[in-house]
Order: sequence, then structure tokens, then C-alpha cells
Amino acid sequence: MSAYKNDLILRAAKGEKTERTPVWIMRQAGRILPEYREVRAQAGSFINLVKNPELVCEVTIQPVDILDVDAAIIFSDILVIPEAMGLPYQMVEAKGPYFENTISSENDLKKLHLAEYADYDYMPKSIEITTKALAGKVPLIGFAGAPFTIFCYMVEGNGSKTFSKAKKMLFTNNVLSHKLLEMITTSTVNYLKAQIKAGAAMLQLFDSWAGILSPASYTEFSLKYIDIICNEIKSEFPEIPITVFAKGAFFARKQMANLNCNTIGLDWNMDIVESRKIIGDGKTLQGNLDPCVLYGTDEFVVTQTESMLSSFGNSKHIANLGHGVYPDTDKEKVKLFVQTVKNYKHKN
Ligand code: CP3
Repeated sequence: MSAYKNDLILRAAKGEKTERTPVWIMRQAGRILPEYREVRAQAGSFINLVKNPELVCEVTIQPVDILDVDAAIIFSDILVIPEAMGLPYQMVEAKGPYFENTISSENDLKKLHLAEYADYDYMPKSIEITTKALAGKVPLIGFAGAPFTIFCYMVEGNGSKTFSKAKKMLFTNNVLSHKLLEMITTSTVNYLKAQIKAGAAMLQLFDSWAGILSPASYTEFSLKYIDIICNEIKSEFPEIPITVFAKGAFFARKQMANLNCNTIGLDWNMDIVESRKIIGDGKTLQGNLDPCVLYGTDEFVVTQTESMLSSFGNSKHIANLGHGVYPDTDKEKVKLFVQTVKNYKHKN
């Protein structure tokens, strides 16, 4: 007997055949919901919200109730880890993250520490409360940024199209870069283990900036550390499914097939049939509708979603968008996407 009333996503992640394809949406908890904006206003700021377990519980469950998705993802941010290591950030309205201090030397590195439980205790506490409140309705997904993406923010200090400052560090100070990546990796392993102990039923690693590296650099600076995280988690928690979503890393799909994870997230640039061929049958695939499809007419949303489902086939697929839902998306279109997945009958 499963501990969940709806465990479709866990079974799909483990490669089991399911009655229908499960569905959730990256960034489902957030600005597309007026209900979220209200709670954020109540908290005073994004960061206050992230650190308030009761309010986190509320906004994590909102999309489960409103959008009818098959999983909850704990409301938080990948930037919890830099902050826990000693590099605080601000979330600037309409602009994004901003770090007052960044890492550019050995001396800066000395000011950091490995993140410990007390540095991020609000996150596992949020997971505990939310798991209780969900009462087995759907599984709760825990997450973290992949070390390379976290490195980008810690060195650059803000969002960027190219992250050229972060890449300059990779190519001019190899030793320092690997030291920082190692510190992030160790911190992230412990952070994810704490999330599992608190109740997270599966995990996702977000490598949002994977696509800015060459294949060789990606192997050296990112996959190496994702591999360590997957192995460390699996050695202690073999039954917890792990998803790796590396945006733009089409060139790394073959290598990703060898990661000790269950699911590979695809973005919308990756052809579904070709990805299955490259990755093989050993992994579940997640994705990958272009989030901009949700700006289209109802008919467009339905036909594009059905075409995606048909290409993935009737097993080893978790339906999602190819990246997070954009904040100006009409929530009715998001609901239509979810219902289209739920109603779809595979031909075989
Ligand atoms: O998916 C979910 O619903 C869970 C919550 C979640 C957030 N951030 C909340 C959030 C998750 C999983 C993230 C991950 C995250 N954060 C990533 C990886 C995923 C991706 O989209 O590539 C990244 C790169 C970040 C860093 C980050 N946080 C940026 C660049 C920004 C600003 C840009 C933006 O999307 O707004 C954030 C802010 C953020 N994180 C918001 C939310 C709901 C918006 C802040 C607000 O409420 O105004």
C-alpha cells in the first residue's frame, strides 16, 4: 500500500506503467496565482515568505488545489544554499536576485562555510509541515540548484544572459572554481538529505544555466558534481527518485543517461523521439511543452499538449513544461494543460 492517495508521479519516475501520465508544472507555486501574490504581500517580501514555514505550506498547496497537479513542489528558491554558506541575497522586484558580496578570490572563499542544518532549518521545517498538511494527497518534491548554476550566481552576483563573469572564473582560476563547486556540492548533499528526512518524496536538481557551457566544460564543471550528488543521495536513500533538469544541455543527453538518477528533464528545444533514442529506455523523461504555448488559444494548447503526449508514449513520462511557467500566463490555460494531460488516452 502506498502512503499516497495519488502516487502516479512516483511510479512513473520508477519506470512503472501508470494508468495515465502524471503532470506538474515547474514554478507552479508563484506569480501566476493571485492567491500566491496575496500571501507574499502578507509576508512582506519573497525572502520572508521563503523563511516562514506556515506560509510556505500555504503557497505550496495552492497549486495542488487550484491547478489539480499530481505533485507539490516545496516553495523555496535555489538561492537558499548560497545564503546558507554565508552569501546573502535580495530578491529585487521585477529584476531578480542580487548578491551584495560575490566570490572572486581565495580570500572570499575563506569567508564562506559549508551549509549546516541550522543555516537552512526553515526549509526542512516547511517540508515537515507541508507533508502533514498534504496528508498523502500527492507526493512533495524537494529541490536544489545544481552546483554549477549556484556557482554562476555566487560569482556573478545577479542574473545574466551570458554569465561571462562566472565563466571567466572557470577559465582563469580552475583551482578556485573547483574548490567553490566542491563546497556547494557538499552543502547541497546535506541539504537534500535533510529534505528527504523531513518528508520530501522525490528530488529535482535545477541546472538552469547548463546551456551556456561547451560539452567539455559541462562535463568538467557541472556533470561531475551532479554525479556526486546523485550517488550520495542514492547510497543513503535508494528509493527516493531524483530528476535532473539541465536547461539547454542537449549535448549532454547521452552522458546524463549514465547518471544515478531516475528522470531526465527535457526543455522544449530537445526533440522528444530523438531524446528517447539518445537516452535509451533506462530513464523516465520529464517535460517538455514550450511555456509560450500557453499564450495560445485553447485549441492550440490542447493540440500541442496531445502531440507532446503522443510523442512521449504511454510510460516513463512525467508531463511538464520545458521550463518554469511564465508569470504572465493565464491560469486557465495552465489548468487546461493539466486537464488535457489527465484526459488523454494513449493509443496502446
Ligand atoms: O517551482 C516552484 O513552484 C517552487 C518554487 C521555486 C522558486 N524558484 C520560487 C520563486 C523554484 C523551484 C525555484 C527555482 C529557481 N530559482 C531556479 C531554477 C529554476 C529555473 O527557473 O530555472 C532559479 C534559476 C532560481 C533563481 C531565481 N529566483 C530567479 C532568477 C528569480 C527571479 C526571476 C523570476 O523568475 O522571478 C527568482 C525569484 C522567484 N523564485 C520567484 C518565485 C515564485 C518570483 C519572486 C516573486 O514572488 O516575485
